[in-house]
Amino acid sequence: MHLCTSGPHAVLVVVGLASAFNATYQKAVQEHISLFTDEVWKHTIVLFTRGDWLGVKTVEERIESEKGLQWLVEKCGNMYHVLDNKNHSDETQVTELLEKIEEMWAGNKDGPFEVNLGHAEQTEARKEVADKKAKRIRQTAQRQARILKELFRGIPRSEKNHNV
Ligand SMILES: *[C@@H]1O[C@H](CO)[C@@H](O)[C@H](O)[C@H]1NC(C)=O
Ligand SMILES: *[C@@H]1O[C@H](CO)[C@@H](O)[C@H](O)[C@H]1NC(C)=O
Repeated sequence: MHLCTSGPHAVLVVVGLASAFNATYQKAVQEHISLFTDEVWKHTIVLFTRGDWLGVKTVEERIESEKGLQWLVEKCGNMYHVLDNKNHSDETQVTELLEKIEEMWAGNKDGPFEVNLGHAEQTEARKEVADKKAKRIRQTAQRQARILKELFRGIPRSEKNHNV
């Protein structure tokens, strides 16, 4: 994102409609977005792909049917767009997306999204520390289990029955 000189005008969160937007999916989106400040939501559009998977449903019905999607669309101020991957002749899908981006851009009085790289780095660093700590705890538990097992093996059978 820092390659855009003035910061990006729009951020697209791409969500495939071929799979359910379950808790795992939602967590992944949340983790990615958390690399930026909350300001990013004002500049974000949900781009639904595989619109051909909707079948007879409208996208609104699909959003309505999944809590995670409701959350995401709400976070983005109800800005979303659907692409039908099967219809290659329908160029209006792209022009409409660009129009929505323009519309969002026109509505954002504060200008483009300012990428705060410090924030992203801090978030990454926090995650690394947490991962390392989890690994240490896991290793300690494994070591203790091994020691206990060895101790247990060293105790004569008769004593095992009495003491353990
Ligand atoms: C969400 O769906 C994916 C596959 O689409 C699956 O791997 C994952 O376990 C699911 N997560 C939950 C919490 O159901
Ligand atoms: C593709 O999109 C065009 C323009 O909206 C539409 O006329 C056509 O019926 C669509 N084709 C399919 C296979 O859905």
